[in-house]
Amino acid sequence: KRPAGAPDKALARPVTKVGVIGAGLMASQFALLFVRRLKVPVIITDLDQARVDKGVEYIHNEIDTLLGKKRISPDEANRLKALVTGTTDKAEFADCDWVIEAVFEELEVKQQVFADVEKYISETAVLATNTSSLSVEQIGAKLDHPERLVGFHFFNPVAVMPLVEVVKAPSTDVATLSTAMVTAAGLYKNAVITTDTPGFVVNRILAKVLGEAMHAVDTGTPFEVVEESTKPFGLPMTPFQLLELVGLKVGAHVLDTHHAAFPDRFFESQNLHKLAELGHIFERDSKGKVKGI
Ligand code: CAA
Repeated sequence: KRPAGAPDKALARPVTKVGVIGAGLMASQFALLFVRRLKVPVIITDLDQARVDKGVEYIHNEIDTLLGKKRISPDEANRLKALVTGTTDKAEFADCDWVIEAVFEELEVKQQVFADVEKYISETAVLATNTSSLSVEQIGAKLDHPERLVGFHFFNPVAVMPLVEVVKAPSTDVATLSTAMVTAAGLYKNAVITTDTPGFVVNRILAKVLGEAMHAVDTGTPFEVVEESTKPFGLPMTPFQLLELVGLKVGAHVLDTHHAAFPDRFFESQNLHKLAELGHIFERDSKGKVKGI
């Protein structure tokens, strides 16, 4: 079923080579999806060779896991591995027609990353950001061609979660939007077109749930009580397990973005910031209390 407002797919440009900026967990997860589903070369870059190597290694390991589960043949595993390369030289992005980033959730960092990569890519290449709550319009503010930027928001774990939010900024043109919709279909994902508002749709709702759970802790309810109380809702994970899955720094950032945009409706959580510094939510001290709270 075509999502509301989806443009004619005849306008979509073919994606024959994918560039991925950032080699962290989220970027590596979706890089694997591009290789596996579109079967096109995927090139990954990051700040240094060590990070690039780690990303490529993660993808190779995941391909081995698929092989171990007999989801792919040995031949296919080799073909997929050969399609993944890493580089620190963005000149190698010249023939990519789809470039997607998942670097740190900082507006200036994302703006800079795109302004930089635009120097190397073709005029028709589409740029996509996996931002989880920042404004796509603002991310594209330093581009010469902001009309080719679209939000393309995956959920963790990328291989399993069926949804992609395709975020249409006011400047996004129809060919870009159409390419994003066709690409999402090629990745076997359900795409919805969302407006460029903080948190789009999913994180706006998640931020409320995760934020309220943290606020209960911030205002004196013991962590264990909140954790226990949220188990019987029939959701696959409690709010704290979900925070751990998406990463505490990302979670804190998403909450802060919502608090800045809607201060009357979203809280800032000092405890979440403390936990993000520690890097772990379920780590206990010698008395069995969650560290950092
Ligand atoms: N990375 C990759 N794959 C994973 C994974 C992970 N962290 N965790 C589980 N999987 C895979 C498993 O390998 C398994 O795949 P196969 O079927 O191919 O073997 C599949 O998921 C199911 O895993 P399990 O049977 O082990 O576990 P489960 O049934 O308990 O499901 C879960 C695990 C899918 C993570 C489930 O708990 C779930 O759906 N949790 C909610 C996840 C969620 O809401 N994500 C959205 C987070 S918000 C976000 O990402 C956006 C943002 O911007 C912050």
